Amino acid sequence: MREIILGIESSCDDTSAAIIADGILLSNIIASQSVHENYGGVVPELASRMHQQNIVPTVSEALRQAGLNPGELSAIAYTRGPGLLGSLHVGTSFAKGMAIGLGIPLIDVNHLHGHVLSHFVKEKDDDETPEFPFICLLVSGGNSQIVLVKSPYDMEILGQTIDDAAGEAFDKCAKVMGLPYPGGPHIDKLAKEGDPSKFKFSRPHLPGLDYSFSGLKTSFLYTLRDAIKEDPDFIENNKADLCASLQATIVRILLDKLELAIRQTGVKHVAIGGGVSANSGMRDAVSKLCERLGVKAWIPARKFTTDNAAMVAMAGWYKYKNNEFSDISLPPFARTSI
Ligand code: KG4
Repeated sequence: MREIILGIESSCDDTSAAIIADGILLSNIIASQSVHENYGGVVPELASRMHQQNIVPTVSEALRQAGLNPGELSAIAYTRGPGLLGSLHVGTSFAKGMAIGLGIPLIDVNHLHGHVLSHFVKEKDDDETPEFPFICLLVSGGNSQIVLVKSPYDMEILGQTIDDAAGEAFDKCAKVMGLPYPGGPHIDKLAKEGDPSKFKFSRPHLPGLDYSFSGLKTSFLYTLRDAIKEDPDFIENNKADLCASLQATIVRILLDKLELAIRQTGVKHVAIGGGVSANSGMRDAVSKLCERLGVKAWIPARKFTTDNAAMVAMAGWYKYKNNEFSDISLPPFARTSI
């Protein structure tokens, strides 16, 4: 019998549905929400409403592209949290209703486990995957964590941010430069034309493997404030250099701790995941770091860096194999770590 898992993701502002059959991805549909662009950030109430509009067509399209009927599904995996509660409720309620209707098991997935396990999503049988144990640097709009992944079921956080996440640092600094939300991809693009050594911003001196990005943000703001007093067009005249210098600082902060974690654990495989792992500067720097340390780097395809249901279906598939099913009464949760 084929094991076919429908994954549903609705934790933030992307409604996504994906199908994995016997460990191979058959479809991965993502409906993004442009409505938030006008507000400079995700508006939770609008996100929930858009999920409600998008969930049925997204799931239908995932089934259609996979060439399957709902009756052929073995189980439904959904993101239980962390995320925006209203958004999570849409995916959770839909998954529960569909599982009850079809009489099949329900599997709750931690969104962060999903990001880590996105490296195991195979589009064809011979796609390679990381070897356990490995380190995953998980960097998104809400998280910056160094995770030691011992198995699909056993993950340990070695370090994490004590304040802002790396994605927040990108987005907040982008906002003061007048770039659209989310700012990370815009900084990435502009940084390609700038000089990364033009400006110096402060880096934290935290012991151990924890991160902090709030000091960098403040240092960025003070640099702009002081410079604008002299030259009102300072941002416009220096945008590319500001972006390149900011990006280089964020990447340096992330990679210094990643290197420490690799040395401390002695792992041979290192992965990155989450929205910020789409950043070109970070992807290059991680590849170079891993080459220097003689470890294998796992850089995800860009389509698997942001929120997607393929990773949820994958995490669900592992739980399915382990007979880990969830009770219909489980509520979604807004906050948690791995
Ligand atoms: O994982 P994700 O899609 O969503 C959640 O955090 O839920 O991550 C979104 C974050 C945003 O902060 C966005 O600016 C950042 O990922 N991001 C990037 C890039 N693409 C997305 N940051 C830097 N460079 C990029 N190319």
